[in-house]
Amino acid sequence: MKGKKSIRMIAALMSASMGIAAVPAIAPSAVSAETASAEEKVVFSTDFEDGDVSMFTNRGDNDTTVLSASDEASVSGSTSMLASGRSKDWNGPAFRLDDKLKPYTEYYISAKVKGRYYTNATFSFQYTNSDGETKYSNLVQNLNGGDWMSVENVKVSFTDEMTDVYVYFEGGQDDLFIDDFVVTEASQVEIEQDIPGLKDVFANDFKVGTALTPSALSSKPTMDLVEKHFSGSITAGNEMKPDAVLNQAACQSYFEETGDDTVPQISFSAAKPLLNYCQKNNIPVRIHTLVWHSQTPDWFFKEGYANDGEWVSKEKMLKRMENYIKAYFETLTELYPDIDFYACDVVNEAWLEDGNPRQPGEQGSGGSAKSAWVQVFGDNSFIEPAFTFARKYAPDGCKLYYNDYNEYMDGKLNAMVAMAKELKEKGLIDGIGMQSHLDARQSLDAAFPSVSMYNKALDKYCELGLDIQVTELDATTPENPTEADFKVQADYYKGIWDAIYAHKDNISAVVVWGVTDDGSWRAKKYPLLFDADYKAKPAFYSIVDGREVPVPAVKYGDADCDGEILLNDAILIMQAVGNPDAYGINGFEKTHITEQGSINGDVANTGDGLTNADALAIQKYLLNLIDKLPE
Ligand code: XIL
Repeated sequence: MKGKKSIRMIAALMSASMGIAAVPAIAPSAVSAETASAEEKVVFSTDFEDGDVSMFTNRGDNDTTVLSASDEASVSGSTSMLASGRSKDWNGPAFRLDDKLKPYTEYYISAKVKGRYYTNATFSFQYTNSDGETKYSNLVQNLNGGDWMSVENVKVSFTDEMTDVYVYFEGGQDDLFIDDFVVTEASQVEIEQDIPGLKDVFANDFKVGTALTPSALSSKPTMDLVEKHFSGSITAGNEMKPDAVLNQAACQSYFEETGDDTVPQISFSAAKPLLNYCQKNNIPVRIHTLVWHSQTPDWFFKEGYANDGEWVSKEKMLKRMENYIKAYFETLTELYPDIDFYACDVVNEAWLEDGNPRQPGEQGSGGSAKSAWVQVFGDNSFIEPAFTFARKYAPDGCKLYYNDYNEYMDGKLNAMVAMAKELKEKGLIDGIGMQSHLDARQSLDAAFPSVSMYNKALDKYCELGLDIQVTELDATTPENPTEADFKVQADYYKGIWDAIYAHKDNISAVVVWGVTDDGSWRAKKYPLLFDADYKAKPAFYSIVDGREVPVPAVKYGDADCDGEILLNDAILIMQAVGNPDAYGINGFEKTHITEQGSINGDVANTGDGLTNADALAIQKYLLNLIDKLPE
């Protein structure tokens, strides 16, 4: 299994869904595959020796590709499939997945591809989302050469919200030969169930959550980890940032139609799969982020929303900012009335480590730290209006945060504290988001920040009397880490988490920035609590060891655990008794009663489990026929 992890496609799918052009190129030679293990089963395989190419198609109406069996070239046997007549780079052959394979299941695809002379092919993935939009991503690029080239054990999976899911070869317009096309179903990985759930260990202290990108949704073990450990809070890794939400074409057409270029047009289509998941599973969401120099298009700050337009005036930008924030919250709450948007990073990363604002300018491509907000406002005076508008339009219960990294370094820390004091006096801010992108390095002495430096920063922020959230926690090891490095990482995580725990009265959420190391934005330095095989790392144990999962107090009658005794509780009990498959403890989705709920609900003949008598007793209690529960 190990070798295959190196070709996990999550990164590729992620960047495609982010609309980022640079998909990591995976050279076929770098794909070291192991032979499929016994539990993995081949679900589709053809070497085209029977001449049948009917499982493959071209890519729709304007694709001129013609598919046929050919004996001109082959890897095994004497026949392959020939895709000829290709008149555009994007032309197929394509193989449909969702009419043959199961959602939420991981498959490996292998195949051989060759051009007639030399070819430059790409192996790609496409699907249609629930809005009817087609999304594409490159799985393996640079299949360059004159001979047969291998695509080996490329991992693919899809959710039940995706339709018309295909893999296909594209690139160039020359003929392509395909041979030995094999789809293998990966053995189902079970996550470790015999370890405590992180969110449960800290249930009385703070929410424990994570960041997700939509590609994680189709990985069952990843989502099992989310459910068990991180279902206290979800942050969209990229999909709720300005570049994912702002729609340039729609902004420009609105401007053309109305003459008003201060009403930015937005869409949450990128975040939709994640938000659907949170809504369905009742998981609170952190909104990340409204006002940021990065992952924010320059055209947002330009006349006519044009890439090459002049910078707009501060007055115009204030209007755009207000209308953007207004539309953001209004659209979200309209689309997802049931999601608890409990926190929002209103402004992200506005201060430099020396306590100064960023340099003005376009965001730039090379990870430049320039800020278009500073360009238009001249300084950091955009921060206060951002909070003013967020306060005006955020839904009730949505707390407002300033969020930053290197938040423990003096210059930045002081600037953040000074800013937060002012905003607090004006009633505009509720909390500080400490990103906490940390570096464990080779030893506790070398770690940056040191545990004591981090602890001091916590002290300072807590003194503000604001809420604190740890919003993006990860702690890197050196590259190519050894066992010893993982041990250091564990000790470091323990130190940091103990510091957090010591401040728990001021901390309402701790969010780890990702689930498994390989899915991290800093994957090369293994910064998370679970490894690529979904196993808890030493860092995980260092956090939970020595702590108990608190036993929740029994609240008789409160079967749905919402803190109140209402008719809903009686109804849920009757549902769980009458239809245990749907509503019982192991019922599907989150409509079902929980373990705690079934203890709370056992109010008549306590100890006999849930029966209709319990529902009746709750109703009697609500009608004041009995004055206490249990009956
Ligand atoms: C990161 C994402 O995880 C990456 O996928 C993306 O390429 C860059 O942004 N601080 C933040 C987060 O506030 O939004 C960043 O997330 C990490 C640093």
